[in-house]
Amino acid sequence: MCGIFGYIGKKSTAAQIVFAGIKSLEYRGYDSWGVAVVPITNSKVVVKKRIGKIGTASVSDLPPGNIAIGHTRWATHGGVTEMNAHPHTDCLQSIALIHNGIIENYAQLKKELIKSNHKFISETDTEVATHLIEELSKTHEFALSVRMSFKQMTGLNAFIALNAHNQELIAIRNGSPLVIGFGEQENFIASDAPALLPLTHDVYFLKDDEMAVVTMSEVNIYDAANGKFKKIQPQRLDWKKTDASRGKFSYFMLKEIHEQPEIINTLVNQSSISTDQLADRIKKSYGTYLVGCGSSAYVSLAGTYLFSKIANKHINWAPASEFAYHLDFLTAKSLVIALSQSGETMDTLEAIKAAKNSGAQIGALLNVLGSTLYRESHYQLLIGAGIEKAVASTKAVTATLAQLVLLAYTLSDNKKIGQKILIQSVTSIQKLFNNVNNIKNIAHQLKNAHHIYIIGRGLSYPTALETALKIKEISYIHAEGFAAGELKHGVIALIEKGTPCIAYVPNDETYGANLAGAMEMKARGGNIIGISHKSHEIFDEYLEVQDAEEATIIPNIVVGQLLAYFLALEKNLDPDMPRNLAKSVTVK
Ligand code: M6R
Repeated sequence: MCGIFGYIGKKSTAAQIVFAGIKSLEYRGYDSWGVAVVPITNSKVVVKKRIGKIGTASVSDLPPGNIAIGHTRWATHGGVTEMNAHPHTDCLQSIALIHNGIIENYAQLKKELIKSNHKFISETDTEVATHLIEELSKTHEFALSVRMSFKQMTGLNAFIALNAHNQELIAIRNGSPLVIGFGEQENFIASDAPALLPLTHDVYFLKDDEMAVVTMSEVNIYDAANGKFKKIQPQRLDWKKTDASRGKFSYFMLKEIHEQPEIINTLVNQSSISTDQLADRIKKSYGTYLVGCGSSAYVSLAGTYLFSKIANKHINWAPASEFAYHLDFLTAKSLVIALSQSGETMDTLEAIKAAKNSGAQIGALLNVLGSTLYRESHYQLLIGAGIEKAVASTKAVTATLAQLVLLAYTLSDNKKIGQKILIQSVTSIQKLFNNVNNIKNIAHQLKNAHHIYIIGRGLSYPTALETALKIKEISYIHAEGFAAGELKHGVIALIEKGTPCIAYVPNDETYGANLAGAMEMKARGGNIIGISHKSHEIFDEYLEVQDAEEATIIPNIVVGQLLAYFLALEKNLDPDMPRNLAKSVTVK
């Protein structure tokens, strides 16, 4: 979950290049940060670390050097302190290490290293790895020491080790992502490809159990298990540089919310063979599952309603982290479709790994070409949302939903209808943008709320769950989404005079029943915020969402995104970097 960046090359501004890299990766973790550089004048690593977000900090005080690494931390082992921030160094300041993951057997390794007189100054597992590499490099060449250390460690990890003497970076992984960027007399390593875009578009996504030895002029890839050289072919990313900047928007989240109409339009207008192939595979499968985590789990749940309504097809659903408990049903004829923006979410990857072991076919709807999920699946459907940087997922959610609408209509041989309603959803979103003050006003009214309850039925049930998640993530207000019919089975006990209750009441078969749920809340004093295509007397507040048939779920979700965003602003919170969260959750 941490951000990792490494540079080696002809420029002597290595520290500044790395600093810009970790700044752009800060969405992966922002408890603390650090940069290590090898000065041109000697080979002792110089490190600067700070706790908190990078903010207006700089590394102009670090010396010129051609090799540096940097890290933004999302703490696992050890509290948020400067000592625990990465990079960590060895006893002689000639090795520096940055790490993403958890070394499960670090305590045992540390005990042995203490016996060999290694001095530890932090509480982290990473520092243990640094000293282990130091110990082994007394008798072995550096890359081999990294590889041997890696083999001794248990857990899922990614490292970049800097060797100040030989001026080389070693990247190695078996869980968390690492991407190598290729330049002219300079090379880069990052935990996410977008961080490389200002520098290069030629990349190689390091696979699990691969090691890269990176110098100024060369990148060589080896099998981490046996050290065998592997010939690889870099790939070219077609992302735009501007995708990685905020542009005219104050926050990435707002920028990404505003990109949604264009993304959906583009999806509608491109003819995708992959959609046809996956639809065909669903047709042939005996049992299909949709899995994902967080927002991607709710989109998966929405998928089950879409396939049922549009294509008359029963699809199973499970949060990826729970999927292991469904494996007994899988056979070689099963299909498991994983939904993931990043393609690197550990729980999702574990789910598909387990499914593959049961012989199932794997499909993926995802945003990142070349990611682990992309490589591990048999059928890939890219959602084309471009780089998503805000921690709270927005455009990836609606782009995935749009793909699911297209997939379900393709399955029912009515792709054109799918395209038509998606275009209607775009018009509906644009109308929301034009009337955004209505949502702002409601956010202003709700800013001091301690609890918000959100109801919906059918497609509006996952919508309610997703809206609640967005509100929780970035405004820290407790929000609970639930199926409207469940209200009377318990949650209604919590509704009292003035409790904010959001009711999704779209123009579909759930209309009457959703209104009935809203009425039940109103009867207990709830303050009803109706989200619907038409107003109703029971709504205390009303937000209009123009109907787009099954694709109404998309603008309905956009309302939730905007509401959460404005709630965060009302509470003076940074919507892009909510506390305790990281963009991609690459640990279990
Ligand atoms: O990259 P993924 O779609 O696999 O990520 C899954 C979740 O971690 C993610 O959706 C998370 O819940 C977001 N913060 C939601 O806004």
